[in-house]
Amino acid sequence: MNIVWDAEKYTKDFAFVHQYGDAVTDLIDCKPGTKVLDVGCGNGALSYKLQEKGFSVTGLDSSEDLLQIAWHNYPEVNFVKADAVSFSLDETFDAVFSNAVFHWIDAKDQDCLLKSIFKVLKPKGQLVFEMGGSGNNALIHRQLANIFTQKGYAYKNPFYFPSIGEYALRLEKCGFKVQFAVLFDRFTELKGKDGLSDWIRMFVKQPFEQISSLVEREEIIRTVVRNLEVKLYVNGKWHADYVRLQMKACKCVD
Ligand code: BEZ
Repeated sequence: MNIVWDAEKYTKDFAFVHQYGDAVTDLIDCKPGTKVLDVGCGNGALSYKLQEKGFSVTGLDSSEDLLQIAWHNYPEVNFVKADAVSFSLDETFDAVFSNAVFHWIDAKDQDCLLKSIFKVLKPKGQLVFEMGGSGNNALIHRQLANIFTQKGYAYKNPFYFPSIGEYALRLEKCGFKVQFAVLFDRFTELKGKDGLSDWIRMFVKQPFEQISSLVEREEIIRTVVRNLEVKLYVNGKWHADYVRLQMKACKCVD
Protein backbone atom coordinates (compact mmCIF):
# COMPACT_ATOMS: atom_id res chain seq x y z
CA MET A 1 0.00 0.00 0.00
CA ASN A 2 1.76 3.12 -1.10
CA ILE A 3 -0.51 5.97 -0.09
CA VAL A 4 0.20 8.97 2.07
CA TRP A 5 -2.91 9.41 4.20
CA ASP A 6 -4.42 12.70 5.25
CA ALA A 7 -5.09 10.87 8.52
CA GLU A 8 -7.12 13.56 10.25
CA LYS A 9 -9.40 14.30 7.30
CA TYR A 10 -9.85 10.56 6.72
CA THR A 11 -10.86 10.05 10.34
CA LYS A 12 -13.22 13.05 10.37
CA ASP A 13 -14.90 12.95 6.94
CA PHE A 14 -14.77 9.28 5.94
CA ALA A 15 -15.94 7.66 9.18
CA PHE A 16 -18.47 5.62 7.16
CA VAL A 17 -15.60 3.30 6.19
CA HIS A 18 -15.28 1.94 9.74
CA GLN A 19 -18.98 2.44 10.53
CA TYR A 20 -19.91 -0.03 7.75
CA GLY A 21 -17.09 -2.27 9.00
CA ASP A 22 -19.04 -2.84 12.24
CA ALA A 23 -21.30 -5.34 10.48
CA VAL A 24 -18.28 -7.25 9.17
CA THR A 25 -17.05 -7.88 12.72
CA ASP A 26 -20.25 -9.94 13.24
CA LEU A 27 -18.90 -12.53 10.80
CA ILE A 28 -16.20 -13.47 13.32
CA ASP A 29 -17.29 -16.63 15.04
CA CYS A 30 -14.91 -16.84 18.02
CA LYS A 31 -15.39 -16.82 21.76
CA PRO A 32 -14.67 -13.68 23.82
CA GLY A 33 -11.10 -13.68 25.00
CA THR A 34 -9.74 -15.21 21.78
CA LYS A 35 -7.08 -13.40 19.81
CA VAL A 36 -7.94 -11.29 16.74
CA LEU A 37 -5.52 -9.50 14.41
CA ASP A 38 -6.93 -6.46 12.55
CA VAL A 39 -4.91 -6.16 9.32
CA GLY A 40 -4.77 -2.58 8.03
CA CYS A 41 -6.35 -1.24 11.22
CA GLY A 42 -5.83 2.41 10.16
CA ASN A 43 -7.02 4.78 12.89
CA GLY A 44 -7.92 1.81 15.13
CA ALA A 45 -11.67 2.44 15.35
CA LEU A 46 -12.60 -1.13 14.39
CA SER A 47 -9.81 -2.69 16.46
CA TYR A 48 -11.40 -0.93 19.42
CA LYS A 49 -14.88 -2.24 18.48
CA LEU A 50 -13.44 -5.75 18.33
CA GLN A 51 -11.83 -5.29 21.73
CA GLU A 52 -15.18 -4.03 23.09
CA LYS A 53 -16.73 -7.28 21.84
CA GLY A 54 -14.37 -9.09 24.18
CA PHE A 55 -11.60 -10.17 21.83
CA SER A 56 -7.95 -9.68 22.61
CA VAL A 57 -6.97 -7.46 19.69
CA THR A 58 -3.79 -6.48 17.88
CA GLY A 59 -4.10 -3.84 15.15
CA LEU A 60 -1.51 -3.78 12.38
CA ASP A 61 -0.90 -0.95 9.93
CA SER A 62 1.96 0.53 7.93
CA SER A 63 0.89 4.18 8.24
CA GLU A 64 2.63 6.00 11.07
CA ASP A 65 0.13 8.88 10.80
CA LEU A 66 -2.92 6.64 11.21
CA LEU A 67 -1.23 4.66 13.99
CA GLN A 68 -0.54 7.89 15.89
CA ILE A 69 -4.31 8.46 15.97
CA ALA A 70 -4.91 4.82 16.99
CA TRP A 71 -2.31 4.94 19.81
CA HIS A 72 -3.73 8.24 21.04
CA ASN A 73 -7.45 7.31 20.86
CA TYR A 74 -7.27 3.70 22.02
CA PRO A 75 -4.33 3.24 24.41
CA GLU A 76 -5.88 0.01 25.72
CA VAL A 77 -5.48 -1.71 22.31
CA ASN A 78 -2.19 -3.19 21.09
CA PHE A 79 -1.09 -1.68 17.75
CA VAL A 80 1.96 -2.63 15.70
CA LYS A 81 3.53 -0.99 12.70
CA ALA A 82 4.07 -3.47 9.85
CA ASP A 83 3.34 -3.95 6.15
CA ALA A 84 0.32 -6.21 5.51
CA VAL A 85 2.06 -7.87 2.56
CA SER A 86 5.20 -8.97 4.34
CA PHE A 87 4.56 -9.07 8.07
CA SER A 88 5.42 -11.86 10.44
CA LEU A 89 4.64 -11.87 14.15
CA ASP A 90 5.86 -14.04 17.02
CA GLU A 91 2.30 -14.93 18.09
CA THR A 92 -0.63 -16.66 16.36
CA PHE A 93 -4.31 -15.66 16.24
CA ASP A 94 -7.76 -17.28 16.29
CA ALA A 95 -9.03 -14.85 13.66
CA VAL A 96 -7.69 -12.29 11.23
CA PHE A 97 -10.05 -9.44 10.38
CA SER A 98 -9.72 -6.77 7.73
CA ASN A 99 -12.03 -4.01 6.50
CA ALA A 100 -11.58 -1.89 3.35
CA VAL A 101 -7.89 -2.69 3.01
CA PHE A 102 -7.23 -5.55 0.58
CA HIS A 103 -8.23 -3.48 -2.50
CA TRP A 104 -5.30 -1.11 -1.79
CA ILE A 105 -2.86 -3.97 -2.36
CA ASP A 106 -1.70 -4.68 -5.94
CA ALA A 107 -2.89 -7.93 -7.54
CA LYS A 108 0.75 -9.07 -7.74
CA ASP A 109 1.11 -8.80 -3.93
CA GLN A 110 -2.18 -10.44 -2.96
CA ASP A 111 -0.74 -13.95 -2.64
CA CYS A 112 2.01 -12.67 -0.29
CA LEU A 113 -0.67 -10.93 1.78
CA LEU A 114 -2.66 -14.16 2.10
CA LYS A 115 0.48 -16.17 2.92
CA SER A 116 1.39 -13.75 5.73
CA ILE A 117 -2.13 -14.08 7.12
CA PHE A 118 -2.20 -17.87 6.79
CA LYS A 119 1.07 -18.08 8.77
CA VAL A 120 -0.22 -16.10 11.77
CA LEU A 121 -3.50 -18.03 12.02
CA LYS A 122 -3.86 -20.93 14.42
CA PRO A 123 -5.16 -24.21 12.93
CA LYS A 124 -8.93 -23.76 12.33
CA GLY A 125 -8.38 -20.00 12.52
CA GLN A 126 -10.68 -17.70 10.54
CA LEU A 127 -10.02 -14.97 8.01
CA VAL A 128 -12.93 -12.50 7.80
CA PHE A 129 -12.78 -9.48 5.51
CA GLU A 130 -14.59 -6.92 3.42
CA MET A 131 -13.03 -5.17 0.44
CA GLY A 132 -14.10 -3.42 -2.74
CA GLY A 133 -15.33 -6.09 -5.15
CA SER A 134 -15.65 -6.35 -8.91
CA GLY A 135 -17.37 -3.21 -10.24
CA ASN A 136 -16.55 -1.07 -7.20
CA ASN A 137 -16.78 2.65 -8.03
CA ALA A 138 -17.07 1.74 -11.71
CA LEU A 139 -18.97 4.93 -12.59
CA ILE A 140 -16.30 7.12 -10.99
CA HIS A 141 -13.29 5.30 -12.48
CA ARG A 142 -14.91 5.10 -15.94
CA GLN A 143 -15.59 8.84 -15.89
CA LEU A 144 -12.05 9.61 -14.69
CA ALA A 145 -10.64 7.36 -17.43
CA ASN A 146 -12.73 9.18 -20.08
CA ILE A 147 -11.56 12.63 -19.03
CA PHE A 148 -7.93 11.55 -18.60
CA THR A 149 -8.00 10.07 -22.12
CA GLN A 150 -9.58 13.21 -23.60
CA LYS A 151 -6.74 15.23 -22.06
CA GLY A 152 -4.06 12.84 -23.38
CA TYR A 153 -3.24 11.10 -20.09
CA ALA A 154 -3.29 7.39 -19.30
CA TYR A 155 -5.64 6.28 -16.54
CA LYS A 156 -5.05 3.08 -14.58
CA ASN A 157 -7.47 2.23 -11.78
CA PRO A 158 -5.12 2.12 -8.76
CA PHE A 159 -7.22 -0.48 -6.90
CA TYR A 160 -7.72 -4.23 -7.02
CA PHE A 161 -11.43 -5.15 -7.07
CA PRO A 162 -11.78 -8.93 -7.59
CA SER A 163 -14.84 -11.08 -8.23
CA ILE A 164 -15.87 -13.80 -5.76
CA GLY A 165 -14.50 -16.51 -8.08
CA GLU A 166 -11.12 -14.84 -8.53
CA TYR A 167 -10.57 -14.29 -4.83
CA ALA A 168 -11.91 -17.70 -3.79
CA LEU A 169 -9.30 -19.28 -6.09
CA ARG A 170 -6.50 -17.25 -4.47
CA LEU A 171 -7.67 -18.26 -1.00
CA GLU A 172 -7.88 -21.94 -1.93
CA LYS A 173 -4.44 -21.90 -3.58
CA CYS A 174 -3.06 -20.53 -0.31
CA GLY A 175 -4.67 -23.35 1.73
CA PHE A 176 -7.85 -21.67 2.96
CA LYS A 177 -11.35 -23.18 2.74
CA VAL A 178 -13.91 -20.58 1.70
CA GLN A 179 -16.94 -20.67 3.99
CA PHE A 180 -18.87 -17.55 2.99
CA ALA A 181 -18.79 -15.07 0.11
CA VAL A 182 -21.10 -12.29 -0.99
CA LEU A 183 -20.82 -9.43 -3.50
CA PHE A 184 -23.34 -6.61 -3.21
CA ASP A 185 -23.97 -2.96 -4.12
CA ARG A 186 -23.72 -0.31 -1.42
CA PHE A 187 -24.65 3.12 -2.80
CA THR A 188 -22.92 5.19 -0.12
CA GLU A 189 -23.72 8.74 0.96
CA LEU A 190 -20.69 11.06 1.08
CA LYS A 191 -20.25 13.94 3.49
CA GLY A 192 -20.69 17.58 2.50
CA LYS A 193 -21.51 19.65 -0.57
CA ASP A 194 -18.15 18.69 -2.13
CA GLY A 195 -18.55 15.03 -1.18
CA LEU A 196 -17.52 13.54 -4.50
CA SER A 197 -14.61 15.87 -5.25
CA ASP A 198 -13.31 15.38 -1.69
CA TRP A 199 -13.60 11.61 -2.16
CA ILE A 200 -11.61 11.75 -5.42
CA ARG A 201 -8.91 13.94 -3.82
CA MET A 202 -8.66 11.62 -0.80
CA PHE A 203 -8.64 8.26 -2.55
CA VAL A 204 -7.56 8.60 -6.19
CA LYS A 205 -4.08 10.06 -5.83
CA GLN A 206 -1.81 7.94 -8.03
CA PRO A 207 -3.31 8.67 -11.49
CA PHE A 208 -3.06 12.43 -10.82
CA GLU A 209 0.67 12.31 -10.04
CA GLN A 210 1.56 12.54 -13.77
CA ILE A 211 -0.23 15.93 -13.97
CA SER A 212 1.99 18.64 -12.54
CA SER A 213 -0.52 21.49 -12.82
CA LEU A 214 -2.80 21.71 -9.78
CA VAL A 215 -5.16 23.85 -11.86
CA GLU A 216 -5.48 21.08 -14.45
CA ARG A 217 -6.04 18.44 -11.76
CA GLU A 218 -8.88 20.48 -10.28
CA GLU A 219 -10.36 21.10 -13.73
CA ILE A 220 -10.47 17.32 -14.32
CA ILE A 221 -12.12 16.72 -10.96
CA ARG A 222 -14.70 19.44 -11.68
CA THR A 223 -15.55 17.89 -15.06
CA VAL A 224 -15.84 14.39 -13.62
CA VAL A 225 -18.09 15.62 -10.82
CA ARG A 226 -20.28 17.57 -13.24
CA ASN A 227 -20.67 14.54 -15.53
CA LEU A 228 -21.59 12.26 -12.63
CA GLU A 229 -24.13 14.59 -11.06
CA VAL A 230 -27.10 12.92 -12.75
CA LYS A 231 -26.21 9.49 -11.31
CA LEU A 232 -24.42 10.21 -8.03
CA TYR A 233 -26.13 13.36 -6.70
CA VAL A 234 -29.34 11.98 -5.26
CA ASN A 235 -31.77 13.71 -2.87
CA GLY A 236 -29.36 16.59 -2.33
CA LYS A 237 -26.41 14.33 -1.38
CA TRP A 238 -23.35 13.03 -3.17
CA HIS A 239 -22.87 9.26 -3.25
CA ALA A 240 -20.21 6.76 -4.31
CA ASP A 241 -21.15 3.60 -6.19
CA TYR A 242 -19.55 1.09 -3.84
CA VAL A 243 -19.64 -2.68 -4.45
CA ARG A 244 -18.55 -4.79 -1.48
CA LEU A 245 -16.99 -8.23 -1.36
CA GLN A 246 -17.31 -9.97 2.02
CA MET A 247 -15.66 -13.33 2.59
CA LYS A 248 -14.92 -15.74 5.37
CA ALA A 249 -12.32 -18.51 5.04
CA CYS A 250 -10.85 -21.03 7.41
CA LYS A 251 -7.35 -22.45 7.90
CA CYS A 252 -8.96 -25.86 8.15
CA VAL A 253 -6.72 -28.85 8.76
CA ASP A 254 -8.18 -32.25 7.86
C1 BEZ B 1 -13.50 0.94 -0.73
O1 BEZ B 1 -13.64 0.86 0.50
O2 BEZ B 1 -14.02 0.14 -1.51
C2 BEZ B 1 -12.64 2.00 -1.30
C3 BEZ B 1 -12.31 3.09 -0.54
C4 BEZ B 1 -11.52 4.06 -1.08
C5 BEZ B 1 -11.06 3.94 -2.36
C6 BEZ B 1 -11.40 2.84 -3.11
C7 BEZ B 1 -12.20 1.87 -2.57
